[in-house]
Amino acid sequence: FSLKPYNTFGVDAKAKYFTEVQTLEELREAVRYSRDHHLQSLFLGGGSNILLTKDFDGLAIKLSLKGISEEDLNENEVLVTAKAGENWHEFVMYTLEKNYGGLENLSLIPGNVGTSPMQNIGAYGTEIKDVFVSCTVLDIKNLELKTFSLEECHFGYRDSVFKQEGKDRYVILEVTFKLTKKDHHIKTEYGAIKTELENMGITHPTIQDVSRAVINIRQSKLPDPKETGNAGSFFKNPTIPLAQFENLKQQFENIPGYPNGDFVKVPAGWLIEQCGWKGKHIGNAASHKLQALVIVNATGNATGKEIFDFSTEIINSVKEKFGIELEREVNIL
Ligand code: EPU
Repeated sequence: FSLKPYNTFGVDAKAKYFTEVQTLEELREAVRYSRDHHLQSLFLGGGSNILLTKDFDGLAIKLSLKGISEEDLNENEVLVTAKAGENWHEFVMYTLEKNYGGLENLSLIPGNVGTSPMQNIGAYGTEIKDVFVSCTVLDIKNLELKTFSLEECHFGYRDSVFKQEGKDRYVILEVTFKLTKKDHHIKTEYGAIKTELENMGITHPTIQDVSRAVINIRQSKLPDPKETGNAGSFFKNPTIPLAQFENLKQQFENIPGYPNGDFVKVPAGWLIEQCGWKGKHIGNAASHKLQALVIVNATGNATGKEIFDFSTEIINSVKEKFGIELEREVNIL
């Protein structure tokens, strides 16, 4: 069974078995089936953060649980819960149509609601942890439901309990966010948003304006997975000790960095571009010409292995030039 339509890289890897589940009961049944037949399970959300480097010899389970519900908290706040299989961007648009604030900076991020807590998706000055309340998961060890609060999720930069201790154990079924109804916190500190709003001629932005600005920025430099296979940023932005950053600054005057205590976060896209990778192809894989941090399936025919090997080349050259070891953000299978 080809998984090509189920991963945004558009890699043509195969799964031995495949099923799509719409309800909790169907999901439990699929997990039981895997267990009874000693198969590994692979849970697929939007497929936007996975690189399949080989065929999968087990049961791939596509999560398609749908539905959105809400509960008023008070005059200004509402809890909105979306099931795992809801498309992230469509969900964000739904909240904005209702004039609920909180998710506007996260417009146009590929993937589904169910995978958003995994890596605490973030962009343009917001992370989901800022509006996250809880998520309900299925524990595949005992097939029971469990709820994780904000604290229990241990959110960090592109990180959560679901990538650490909880890896391969929990399937996220639904996520609840706390959004605002009137007193919205408009977040435009991120340089690119400010500039884009100016270009749009907007001085008092609404949450819908911020969303439009984010969409414009993303469309101007990130490839649309429907046209060119990719999984967004392929690497995390590395955090290095301040002393190491100061040293690098002596040698590379223009190195950008965002200080955070004794550490500095350096944009991986800059490091990769400096190594000459931006827009460069090897076989079917390439670094995106407008954003070096994004690796693309340039011809549509790249294998996962080819993309993986390409990423290793990038890691090696950044390590050699800057002494910084890039870490992959995308899940490798
Ligand atoms: N830069 C370059 N060359 C490049 C790309 C970037 O020099 O080819 C430098 C520029 O100096 C730029 C800086 O890097 O000012 C930051 O670039 P950008 O604003 O595009 O953000 P990023 O750090 O590359 C991160 C996230 C993105 C998110 C943006 C906006 C990570 C790994 N990536 O990228 O997330 O959209 O910030 O907030 O943290 C994703 O995770 O898939 C993703 C797209």
